[in-house]
This record gives sequence, C-alpha cells and structure tokens, in this order.
Amino acid sequence: MSTPDPTPTGWTPDSWRSCPGANTIPYPDAEALSRETARLRSLPPLVTSWEIERLRKEIAEAEAGRRFILQGGDCAETLEDCRPDRIAAKLKILLQMSLVLVHGVKKPVTRVGRFAGQYAKPRSSPTETRQGVTLPSYFGDLINRAEFTSEARMPDPHLLVRGYQHASLTLNFIRALVDGGFADLHHPEYWDLSFFTHASLSPAVRAEYERMTANLADGLRFMEALGERTVDDLTRVEFFTSHEGLNLHYESSQTRRVPRRAGYYCLTAHMPWIGERSRQPDGAHVEFFRGVRNPVGIKIGPSAAPEQVVSLARALNPAGESGKLVLITRLGADQAASLLPPLLGAAGQAGVKGCWMCDPMHANGITTPSGVKTRSFDAILRELEETYEVFEREGVPLGGVHFELTGDDVTECVGGAAGITEADLSTNYATACDPRLNYQQALEMAFLLARRMGRAKA
Ligand code: PEP
Ligand code: CO
Repeated sequence: MSTPDPTPTGWTPDSWRSCPGANTIPYPDAEALSRETARLRSLPPLVTSWEIERLRKEIAEAEAGRRFILQGGDCAETLEDCRPDRIAAKLKILLQMSLVLVHGVKKPVTRVGRFAGQYAKPRSSPTETRQGVTLPSYFGDLINRAEFTSEARMPDPHLLVRGYQHASLTLNFIRALVDGGFADLHHPEYWDLSFFTHASLSPAVRAEYERMTANLADGLRFMEALGERTVDDLTRVEFFTSHEGLNLHYESSQTRRVPRRAGYYCLTAHMPWIGERSRQPDGAHVEFFRGVRNPVGIKIGPSAAPEQVVSLARALNPAGESGKLVLITRLGADQAASLLPPLLGAAGQAGVKGCWMCDPMHANGITTPSGVKTRSFDAILRELEETYEVFEREGVPLGGVHFELTGDDVTECVGGAAGITEADLSTNYATACDPRLNYQQALEMAFLLARRMGRAKA
C-alpha cells in the first residue's frame, strides 16, 4: 500500500533559495559553501524519522490536553560547551523539572532539549561596531566566531560541518546517558534543594516545597502507571532535540526522503523552530519548514497580528494535522493577558490546528543600569501565570513551556528563592547570548508552575 506524498506542490528542499531572507548570512566563498554542504548531505542523519513521528504523536496529545511538553536549554550552545559535565547537568535539570511537572499536571511530560544544534543565533543588527570598527555580528558557532576580529567574524561554511559534528557528539553522549538510566531520578532526596533553606522563603512556601519533594516518588510511580512502560523505558524513549532552524544551508543539507515513509524529513533535530525574526509569511524560513514532516515550532511575539498568526499556521500546517505545528507565544509579562485572547479567538475561529506553548523568557529581557542583560524570575513566572490563566479561561489546552536554562550555577537572571541580585550578576555570567535560569531557579520555576497547575486540577 503506498501512502500519498504529503509534500506541498512546488516545494523542494531547495525552494527556499529564491525567497526573501535566503541570503541573510553573507558567505563570502560560494564554492566553499557548496563543498561543505555537499559533505553535510553525505553524512548520516542526527535523528530518525521514527523518532520524529513519535514526537508528533506526543505533541498531538499535548494539543489535546493529554500531555505536557517541557522544552529548555541554552539560548546559544557553543562548540566549547560540548563537555560531558555541562551536557549531563543540562539533561539532569530537564529530567528533574519534568518530574516536578508530572507531579503537578498529572499528565505525561515530554522533554525537548534546546541542544545538539542550538548553534545559530538571529541578531537584531547584521553588524557590530566597537571603537569605530564595524564587523559582522556574531551569529553563533554554526556561522562565525565570537572574537571581535575580521577573520573570526567572517561566516565560515566549514562551521556547518563542525556544528554537525558537535551536535552528533552531544547527542551520542545524551543517548548513552539516557540509556544508562539516570538512576538518581528515583531519589529526589539527593537533589540539590539547598535553596529551600534560604531566608527569603516563607515557612509556608518552604513547607509546601518539602511536601512536594516528598511526594515526588509518587509522581514517578504515577508516571510509570501512565504508560505500560517503566520510567527508565519512558526516559529512554521520550527524549527529543530542538533548535532554531535559522541557517537553512544546514537544515536543507540534512533534509531527505527516508525509506518506507512519505515526504521529507529534516534530520538535524526532531523539532526545529522558526524564530521571531524570521517568520515572514513569504520568507525563506516559512517556505522551507512548510515542506518537512517534522513538527515545527514558530515563535509568536507581541507584534504578531492574530490574522498573521492564522495565515502562518495555514502555511506551516496546510493539511491541518495534529502534532505538526507548535505555536510558542513570547509576549511579555505585561502584555500576555491582553494579547492572548484575540490570538486564541482568531485561531479558534479559523480552526487552526496547533499545540500552544509559552516561552516566558524572550519578551522579558531587561538591561541593568550598568548595561548587563538580565531577566527577572518574577516577570518570567508572571508571564507563565497570566498565560496559564488565559488558556484556562478560554478552555484551550496550554500544551507546554519553553525555557532558557542551564544545569550550572550561573548568575544571569535575577530573583528566585536563591536571591540573586543585580550585584551578583557578575559572579558567574557565562551565557553566549541571553541570560538563562540556573539550576535552582529552573527547579524552583518548575515547582511553582506545578503548584499553579496542580491547583487548577483540584
Ligand atoms: C531564542 O529562542 O533564543 C530566540 C532568539 O527567540 P525569539 O526568536 O523568540 O526571539
Ligand atoms: Co534566547
């Protein structure tokens, strides 16, 4: 029996090349670019079509309110960050947060990492000027290098292959760790919960945290009961990768047909997404991602008009399939409550099929008086709460959340029970791009979200 080909008419893995935005990365040497992309085309895939199909199924469940998606990781991964301790710490925080969330939402939670390919960054300006010298901006390790020299900032197509290699090393280690079982998940008492003892936490909240931690073992049993499989088994299967699909040379070189399945798969990640700055309806990114079988995310910022979101959704999910489109709102704590109802209304009226997620990070950036980019824990939490409230009121499932976080002890976002202040930011400010929640902040955020969502169920 042959399945009809779902590829949209006129689409090819290269049809994006004639659209606006196709040439935003000024590679100086076209020949070197085609040599490196030819190499990428010949290399094995990083992920497989059956994993992608499995994620689509899980996203379809989240869309229907039967599952929750936790997406998180660095704003920008660097090749230098490809180290076992960092990778393990990131995996651990995501796994721990997902358990906390299972406890609150009483649904299975799917983990989607921002890793193994989050190497390309959109910039608000294509150039950067320092002391009268203007050079191309740093676009992430997949494109150029951070150092402020003309040599480092020149887009280098060999970095496409280097990025692929590091994504592959990262993924290999993650798959091995996950296969090994991450046994400490069964022992929440070993988690680093030292922030509970911080003075700024009220005794009532502390008691609630402690109660929830004590109950986490129940959450594990609950998760085991939800599937017929064991937690180790679930952990192994339910792990997915994502990154912003900014560099279409990279994405299209790993996009292929696979045996015994219809359509094209983008095999760099399970769930690529289109960023806020590259979602032009007639642009190269929408053209490219409308043709692949992967679930595709799209960021929705405050400037997106409801009718524009509807037409983007139609373009990216022409057949109206469940599990295909992930609408990631990033509207800001102050605007989420007013911007969401018209968005949800228009989407509902147009019959848009998509899984809604909230990214409470990207519209809550602030700069301190001394010029440090940060985000406040409270604003992030407020956007989540306001968003959750609107979805609850409108009767639409909020299918997941999207965070920038790290498993390390960085000081990049202010606030949280650990009490990071503006003055602390210089202690360990390590991000290659936007400020991330550190280990304790991320875990606390999961606790608070679980508490809020758990309350809604009562
Ligand atoms: C990001 O996710 O790192 C990012 C740049 O987001 P956005 O496109 O929503 O600004
Ligand atoms: Co970011």
